[in-house]
Amino acid sequence: MPRKDLLDIHSLQTEEIIALLDQAAPFKEIFTRSVKKVPALKGKGVLMLFYEPSTRTHSSFEVAAKRLSADVTNFDVPSSSITKGESVRETIETLQAMRTDYIIVRHGRSGLPAAIAKMTNASVINAGDGAHAHPTQALLDAFTLREIHPDLGGKRILIIGDILHSRVARSTTEIFQRLGAEVAWLAPGSLLPAYPPEGVTCYTDYDTAMNRKPCAIYLLRVQMERQDVQYFPSLREYHRVYGVTEERLKRIADAGIHIMHPGPVNRGVELCDAVMDYPLSLINQQVENGIAVRMSVLYSLKPGNHVSA
Ligand code: CP
Repeated sequence: MPRKDLLDIHSLQTEEIIALLDQAAPFKEIFTRSVKKVPALKGKGVLMLFYEPSTRTHSSFEVAAKRLSADVTNFDVPSSSITKGESVRETIETLQAMRTDYIIVRHGRSGLPAAIAKMTNASVINAGDGAHAHPTQALLDAFTLREIHPDLGGKRILIIGDILHSRVARSTTEIFQRLGAEVAWLAPGSLLPAYPPEGVTCYTDYDTAMNRKPCAIYLLRVQMERQDVQYFPSLREYHRVYGVTEERLKRIADAGIHIMHPGPVNRGVELCDAVMDYPLSLINQQVENGIAVRMSVLYSLKPGNHVSA
């Protein structure tokens, strides 16, 4: 039975993950045509409901929906009745009455997209909830690395940075593991969760983690806005101990290691400027592939079928 919602990676069968990734490839091929549009979702309504800021995810979903010929409505939270105290339930009931087919939600509260999915017949896609999940980021990350390594079985990936506050770390770790990769985390001890997922090795020392010889390192943004206390002495110190400095970039280049980052990047913190021109950086490919992967997700979900992911 087709799936109604996409709420996290955990709920997907591995075969579903592979099918979503495989299906994204022909959508990417559409980008090379002069007419970058197909009629797959003609007449369908897609509503963007972002309670938190976003550049990449928001614009990527909007482009993806439009390339599938859907009608896109941007719900402007700051100018809505939410600012007058309207509850999420009231908002969703109002939007449900407008018979939208897909609702794409970002919210600071973990689990809110799952709660919304139970309130509506529309397909709900989690565009990032708190520190819980960011499934389409994980799918686009897997798609991007599979373009380099079609079989991720046994590949080693090192995720570096603010793991504690990162929904990306959780979802991306899970998808890479499900595709057979070995994932490790590197961060200051204060930014590592007490209970990492099974199979994830945690490091606090850069050189020890890099001795594992990863095929790719995945840098995470230090999320200062979610840090209520000081987790490390200073951003300068963080860059010195955990950042990709110019000196480290030379060694990364010599070893042929790819660099990934979900964006937005903090230059001078998790990476130096030179990373943006590094030939094995996949950061721009991640953004481009995000559109194809989100087209694949929108195309696969079936509104009105109550099989919630
Ligand atoms: N990767 C990501 O979620 O970026 P945005 O916050 O810009 O959407």
